Amino acid sequence: MPSTFLLYGATGYTGSLTARMAVQRGLKPILAGRDPAKVEALADELGLAWRAFPLEDGAALNLALREVPVVLHCAGPYSRTYKPMVDACLRTGTHYLDITGELMEHEALAGRDAEAKAAGVMLLPSVGFDVVPSDCLAAHLKRRLPSATHLTLAFQSFGGASRGTLISTLDAADRPGMVRRAGVLEPVPAAWKTRLIDCGQGPVSCTTLPWGDLATAYRSTGIPNIETYIALPAAQRGAMKSVRYLGWLLGSKPGKAALMRMAQALPAGPSAAERAAGYSLLWGEASGDEGKRAVSRMRTPHSYTLTALASLAVVERVLAGDAPMGYQTPAKAYGPDFVLDIEGVTRTDEPQPLDNIHADASGHTPER
Ligand SMILES: NC(=O)c1ccc[n+]([C@@H]2O[C@H](COP(=O)([O-])OP(=O)(O)OC[C@H]3O[C@@H](n4cnc5c(N)ncnc54)[C@H](OP(=O)(O)O)[C@@H]3O)[C@@H](O)[C@H]2O)c1
Repeated sequence: MPSTFLLYGATGYTGSLTARMAVQRGLKPILAGRDPAKVEALADELGLAWRAFPLEDGAALNLALREVPVVLHCAGPYSRTYKPMVDACLRTGTHYLDITGELMEHEALAGRDAEAKAAGVMLLPSVGFDVVPSDCLAAHLKRRLPSATHLTLAFQSFGGASRGTLISTLDAADRPGMVRRAGVLEPVPAAWKTRLIDCGQGPVSCTTLPWGDLATAYRSTGIPNIETYIALPAAQRGAMKSVRYLGWLLGSKPGKAALMRMAQALPAGPSAAERAAGYSLLWGEASGDEGKRAVSRMRTPHSYTLTALASLAVVERVLAGDAPMGYQTPAKAYGPDFVLDIEGVTRTDEPQPLDNIHADASGHTPER
């Protein structure tokens, strides 16, 4: 199996974690980013080749992508970084992977499916924590309840977030909430609904948040009604709700600049000890019009450890030649059980009532 791929954004918190784990797995990424001094220092430390160029330099992008079969794009916020990389991948016939959790980027990439197929490349965004486990969970629930018409997903994370994730969250803070209804994305107020969900350690308050899964779970399962939730303490729920009234301020240039300055002062991300102690819990429920329901849960390592492990597992599949063309989701490309190959990931199913199982193994409700 070839071992070389391009890792752009390699000097960020998640990019450098991924670069280090890649080396441990025997992979040889070419490290890349826009700051030559930072990229060279990391490449020298890890004994890897490196390239430095801004995303605006189309000629340099072409050159770097022509050297490799696949790029893992770790530079975000993706609202600002995905397009030049995707354009260059389509120009050069290079498979595209990223770790975005941004919903609207998925919608944009899904719209480029035909272009990707014509170019012979796979476009597979969100090969990190958001959305590999939740997408596989969604596809697993669809497998358990093929007649499902509604899907609800929730997660609860322990162990902190990176500055880059916070910056990406703030970058999108002025956008409304979102759900999928009858197959269509529908704007809803920020932190629209709160409900108690047991992600695995007892019921906790979870609030709607527009994850990438509103795009991916729909395409992986075809289930037309989807809501996504996050477990949050009351103070953070309140902050999310305030976006309903302060969205105009957060969306203004001075408002965004002030938030970004505050975020830049934060640490880069959780320490190695915090990552080792942290973990995430996921819960998913598929339900149908006839009152049937299936519930499954998942536990994963810390979300950033999981992001590095999952993205490298996908890179390895692509390097081994397993890259279905066009826009993909993790579960469509590699199946609902792909996530179970990642060390530290477990999945449990709540038992289904017998008539559920009979009804759905065939896809039809049995006659009585
Ligand atoms: N889906 C998931 O589960 C998941 C998990 C982890 C991270 N993420 C996302 O991944 C992204 C990176 O996260 P992080 O924690 O690594 O953040 P980070 O530590 O802030 O790193 C960001 C990286 O992106 C680069 N970058 C930013 N804007 C750029 C631009 N316009 N052109 C070129 N490079 C640019 C930065 O380069 P400089 O150093 O030169 O500024 C840096 O290398 C974020 O969007 C985050 O939300 C998602």
